[in-house]
Amino acid sequence: MRRLLVAGNWKMNASKVMLNELLAGITANAPQQTDVVVFPPAPYLLMAADKLQGSSVKIGGQNLNANESGAFTGEVSANMLVDCGCDAVLVGHSERRTLFAETDTDVLAKTEAALAAGLTPYVCIGETLEEREANKTEAVIEQQINAVLNGLTVQQLAKCVFAYEPVWAIGTGKTASPEQAQQVHAFIRSLLAAKDEELALNSHVLYGGSVKASNAKELFAQQDIDGGLVGGASLQAEEFLGICNPA
Ligand code: PGA
Repeated sequence: MRRLLVAGNWKMNASKVMLNELLAGITANAPQQTDVVVFPPAPYLLMAADKLQGSSVKIGGQNLNANESGAFTGEVSANMLVDCGCDAVLVGHSERRTLFAETDTDVLAKTEAALAAGLTPYVCIGETLEEREANKTEAVIEQQINAVLNGLTVQQLAKCVFAYEPVWAIGTGKTASPEQAQQVHAFIRSLLAAKDEELALNSHVLYGGSVKASNAKELFAQQDIDGGLVGGASLQAEEFLGICNPA
């Protein structure tokens, strides 16, 4: 049985005041039946970890450098994230792929580095509108996920979370319909099953792209959608909790 998992990707949005208010609001009413993790910007991780002590809400980094340490000005390693109290890290978010030119090879290296440090990598994949309209959704998804499926062992993959985020639905207010999302999630699970049946049964595959309290229930009711990776709607406690608890 896969428990509902909801992750809040704050992207480049935070201040000390905002963090205090948002985390106080989330922890005051975090639902027992849902696993919740938030991804604040790197400078706020220590503060978030401090604030979340004793709470079931976990934290993760939004990015990492695959190297262990050294002359990489401005970068953050997996061990630093662990040292700051993180359990998880986002890898391959479409904004990293498009704005920062991250390739599938980078995604694999980062996923490996995260696993080696004991972090849960949230491996993000998804097609652009042009790719969808050209009927290339499955080909793109397959190529992106195969980068990790072919590069990691089943034991390593069992420690990953996967997130399907159609690029055309991110921050646009255009959500994939539950049927559209389920179709791709089922395809992702079939690719996981081709690697290992158990892996497919146990892996969390999250949906991301304009998830809100008003559409979460229908999305999460789909057989192969195990929760959400939420951007904009994770910046308000009430809205985020509505997604975590989609009654
Ligand atoms: P959104 O972002 O919920 O604001 O569409 C999702 C994401 O990029 O993870």
